[in-house]
Amino acid sequence: MSTTKPEPQQPALHRLVHKINPPPRPTYGPNRIGKAQNYRPRLVTRLLSKYFPPPVRTDVAWYSASIGKKLDRTSDFFVDATGSNGKELTTLLHSIRDRAWALDAYPCFGRWLFLLPGISGLSWYDDVVLKRAREGATVLDLGCGLGQEIRRVAVTESVKSTQLYVLDVSQEIWALGLELFGDASSPPAKFIQADARTDRYAESLRANSEQLFQLSGKVDVVLMGLFLDLFHFPGQVEVGKTVAMLSKVGTHAVGYSRGTTTGNAVEEEVKDAGTRSMVHDDKSLKTLWFDIGELTKTKWKVEVNLVEIGEFGWEQEDVGWMGGPPPMGICFVATRES
Ligand SMILES: C[S@@+](CC[C@H](N)C(=O)[O-])C[C@H]1O[C@@H](n2cnc3c(N)ncnc32)[C@H](O)[C@@H]1O
Repeated sequence: MSTTKPEPQQPALHRLVHKINPPPRPTYGPNRIGKAQNYRPRLVTRLLSKYFPPPVRTDVAWYSASIGKKLDRTSDFFVDATGSNGKELTTLLHSIRDRAWALDAYPCFGRWLFLLPGISGLSWYDDVVLKRAREGATVLDLGCGLGQEIRRVAVTESVKSTQLYVLDVSQEIWALGLELFGDASSPPAKFIQADARTDRYAESLRANSEQLFQLSGKVDVVLMGLFLDLFHFPGQVEVGKTVAMLSKVGTHAVGYSRGTTTGNAVEEEVKDAGTRSMVHDDKSLKTLWFDIGELTKTKWKVEVNLVEIGEFGWEQEDVGWMGGPPPMGICFVATRES
């Protein structure tokens, strides 16, 4: 299957205007969420952007034009779930990815990481996620993006869509997922638009989202794929407070993201991307859950695995560009004990 699509050529006048008035390099992450609301470009930039809409720049290291090998392990899932195959599937994926990139320039879109097995490739997946879902567990995907993770759970035998919830700060990204999978008329899960970060008080959760508040103490399994590493340590603690408030004894929180070798955990500026991120090793990830437990009067047993990046299907270019400590894959299952 050919996975590359030629870049569309802009008219010459547009190219000239963009040369004189270049669009800003894209950034991603929580800093950007705040800026989007406050930032007002100069009048001349607004006028030029209105008549010559700028393409979102792609000359950054966390963007790849071609799908490359990212579909190798998951093409059966995407063929079944989208109802498209071959060239038609490639065209559809490029169209959705390009529009997701224009909304939010995350590496998960730029480098096609959403096509990889993700949480379904983790060793706890069958025993924790699927087994519990089959038994009727309530599952919530935090920072769901296009929603490929919840759709894998949704197609599991005897799982009902009423058990499944997804949360994302961006309604538009979820809507693109509905378009990709063609299931807008019968969504696989209930979508909640909210910020996953809250303080540890019920009122703060309620102020963030009434729908989320209604799930307090009711969620059995929380998925966090490529999510925690968007935030620096205090942001991760705020996500953990939300998880703790939604949880009950026995709840599992399962996730994965970029990590690093033992002893190299670091809070870092991500090179060029305008965001800060806590990159965990096994010890610091356990400390995170210990802190979340202390602050929320809950207790979590945490299992952590550090794996070579290839195990997640990542290539060096997918994570090496960030600089910082040696990249590894890190995954965890945190089980609430009290
Ligand atoms: C890197 S993508 C990962 C998406 C998905 N989990 C996956 O594995 O493909 C991060 C997602 O988190 C969402 N997001 C970012 N900040 C958020 C926040 N504070 N609360 C909820 N969602 C957030 C973004 O809109 C984006 O869809």
